[in-house]
Order: sequence, then structure tokens, then C-alpha cells
Amino acid sequence: MPDPARPGQARSSGITYQQLLDTDTKPVPEVLRLESPQYLGDEDIANSRYTSRDWHEREVERLWKRVWQFACREEQIQHVGSYVVYDIANLSFIVMRSAPGEIKAFYNACLHRGRQLKDVSGRCSEMRCPFHGFSWKLDGTLGHVPARWDFEHVDDSQWSLPEVKVGTWGGFVFINPDPNCVPLEEFLGGLPEHFARWDMEGRYIQGHVCKVVRANWKVVQEAFCESYHVGGTHPQALPYLGDVNSQVDIWDTFSRIITPGGTASPLLGWDPTEEDILRYMLDIRVDEETFVSLAPGQKARAASAAAARERWRPVVGDLVDEWSDAEFIDNIDYTLFPNFHPWGAYNRIVYRFRPNGDDHTTALHEIFLLAPFSGERPLPAKTTYLGPDDSYTEAAELGMLGKVFDQDGFNMPMVQKGLTQTCATVRPSTACWWASVAAVHQHRHGGRRPADRRGRQPAQRRVLRTSGTTPAAPAAWRC
Ligand code: FES
Ligand SMILES: [Fe+2]
Repeated sequence: MPDPARPGQARSSGITYQQLLDTDTKPVPEVLRLESPQYLGDEDIANSRYTSRDWHEREVERLWKRVWQFACREEQIQHVGSYVVYDIANLSFIVMRSAPGEIKAFYNACLHRGRQLKDVSGRCSEMRCPFHGFSWKLDGTLGHVPARWDFEHVDDSQWSLPEVKVGTWGGFVFINPDPNCVPLEEFLGGLPEHFARWDMEGRYIQGHVCKVVRANWKVVQEAFCESYHVGGTHPQALPYLGDVNSQVDIWDTFSRIITPGGTASPLLGWDPTEEDILRYMLDIRVDEETFVSLAPGQKARAASAAAARERWRPVVGDLVDEWSDAEFIDNIDYTLFPNFHPWGAYNRIVYRFRPNGDDHTTALHEIFLLAPFSGERPLPAKTTYLGPDDSYTEAAELGMLGKVFDQDGFNMPMVQKGLTQTCATVRPSTACWWASVAAVHQHRHGGRRPADRRGRQPAQRRVLRTSGTTPAAPAAWRC
């Protein structure tokens, strides 16, 4: 039993996530049975991390120039010559399909007078600078030099575009500007094994929304990796969301928060029936008929999962009958340090949060909706761009999520404003939530790892990782 007197051990009343899994109508995959709680302390953090230009510039030097980061999906550069311009802070890279089965990434700058080579993503037969016309081949070697006779000093072998490291996993393309970085596989640690059951590669971009938010990128990210705000910000979700019954797990470079669906919040002041839970979950008004019905004795979780199975059946067939209710209903939000959030199981959501160009006071909140497909891979959806004053509901592809995100959107600029005016520090709310936030501030964590709720010491817990350990982060990351 957890000891509330020990830091990090207190927990909410109500059913635990693991107890909820015991009620599943299907076998639950081992990955959801893993538990890796960590107490990361409860120290305040200085608001300057979110507000100061100096901190932003330290992040550029010590974080963005050194870390593996999600740049694009492979499907966005499907054909030879297709490329994506990936910007992070004041840095810009060209991620290029340089040959069949080969992806390269280059600094997006001409070696002649420094003009940015590509302004937007697209497809090309060469990388030609719009200024004086120097060009480079798709593999980055020097191509054409206008008036070559006047460039006797140019040694072709020394004039290839500088490259940065590239790695792929699950259809995602990552880059790392640090030539001495560890391989992506090592950085990912056990993450691919967690997702082995949930094929991310076999999905396509059904929707992609990119919204400017007037807040530091970490303010925005942290608004989407804890559920403590649900009662205050999304009170309509309390009848069907176990907000404070979430399970928070932390590994080396990645973490996850699982917030169960189809179960009422312990913070709710009344006891909803299973019918109530279902109606709230599906956003059905009191005067409307439900389009998912409950069999006698059936739980809302099971009924909702059964309906989701039928939506997936045309794509993956009867395999859906082996998938647990939890994989359809629960919010399984993984975070790979520092800013990449692929949701686990059969949810389509992948988030990315980054500075809006070189402005540390605004951020880009991106939502990728990755859907399965059968037959030929559909073309990736075009990006919907939203400005800081646009509503998320203007992105039709978000459906009901648009209204929910707008509720978050009301907070984030006001958090940024408040941080610059009144708060000396950001105060952790609870040890549990703090862990989920702290995990994105520090990639590795010191201190002891407490026994889990079953009293097992860390070494006794089941882990999926089978090889190696994730490398230590450069000390600079722990700024
Ligand atoms: S700056 Fe690119 S060709 Fe001159
Ligand atoms: Fe929210």
C-alpha cells in the first residue's frame, strides 16, 4: 500500500488504472501492465525558463542543437527529391529523400553567400539557390556553379552541404545536429518496444493542424501532458474521465500518462450511471437518442470500445477482436524528450510542440492525426494553419477535439502573461503531476525510485526493454 507520508506515494481515491484494467472484456497487453512511477522532487522552477530570452538561447545551444527531434513523417518525403523544410528556433534544415530508401538532412543554407536554400517544403531535382544559382545534387554534393571560371578556389569535394544525423522509427523521421550524438535507436530506448503492438508506420497523415499559440512552447506542451487541469478547464469531461486516477510512468528518455476513459472522476460531486457516462463521453444531449446502446449489465467502457472495434474492423479485420477496451478508450499520451508526443494504442493523435521560429514567447502546437489504411497509402493531408487568434474549431479535421482544445487555448496565453507579471516560480501541483511535467524538463532523473503501489522495488517490476541502457543526456540538457 502506498504510504501518504512518503513523498510521491499519496494517491487519489477511486479505482486505480491497474484495477480498471482488471475489468477489461479482452486480454490486456503487457505494455499497459507496466508501472514505472518515479518521485522527481517537488522543487519550484524559475519562471525564467518560460519567459527569458537568455533561457531560449540556452535551449538552442544546449538542447535543439544536440537532441534527436521529430522532423517529419516519411510519407511526406515519399518520392526521390521530396523534401521538408524543418525549422526549430533560428535553425533550419532540409530533410530530403535523396535516393530510394535513403533520407539525408542538410543545414538549409547556401555555401556561397548564405541564403536559405529552400523556403518551403516541396519536390525538386536539385537544390538550387535562388540568389546566384549555385546548386547541389539531392545527395548534397556540389552541382552547378554559374560562371565557374571565376571560382578556381572552389574544391568540389569540400563544397558538399553539411549534413546532420538522420534516423527513423515508426514512419517518423528524426534529425540531430550533433555529430557526436548517440544513434537514434539508443536514444529511443524501449519506446519502439512499447509501440510494437501499435503499428505507427502503417498509418498515414489523415489530418495535420499547426496553430500558433501566444505562450512559450513548454507552457503549451505542459498543458497537454497532465490531466489535473481537467476539472478546472474541461469540467464536462468529469463524468467519463478518470483524471486524477491517471497513471504516470517515467523511463529514461520517455514517459507516459494514461488517463482512463469511461470511468468517472473522483472529483465529480455525483455518481453517474453507466448510461450517463456513455452520453457524456459521446457528447449526446439530454434530448437526443444515444447511437451506442448499453446491453443489460454492460459498462460504458465496454460499449464504447465495442463501437470503436467496428469502426476499425473494415481496415484491420477481425484482429480488432483481440484488442482490449483500454486500447480504444484510454488516453495513453507518451512523451519522448523533449517535445514529441505519440499517443499509444489506437488513438490517432501525435503532438509536437516547438518554438514559433525564433520567438520564445509564442509556440507552434501541431496535431497530427495518424490513421490506419487498407490498400494503397493515401496522400498525406494538407496542413491547416491557424493563427494565434483562430479557433481550433476552424480546423474541421479535429472534430469534437476543436472545442476541447479551445478550452485549453483560453489558458495558455494567460499562463504566459501571468508568468511574466506575478509569479516568481512555477509551483508543482502534486508530486504525481509534477513528475509528468518534470520529465520534460530533465531527461534523466536523480534520486531514488520508490517502490510501486504493489510494494515492488524497481528491479522487481516488469520492463519491456531487453537490451542496453539509454545513454546519459549531455549535462547541458539539465541546464
Ligand atoms: S547565396 Fe546562394 S548562390 Fe549566392
Ligand atoms: Fe486540456
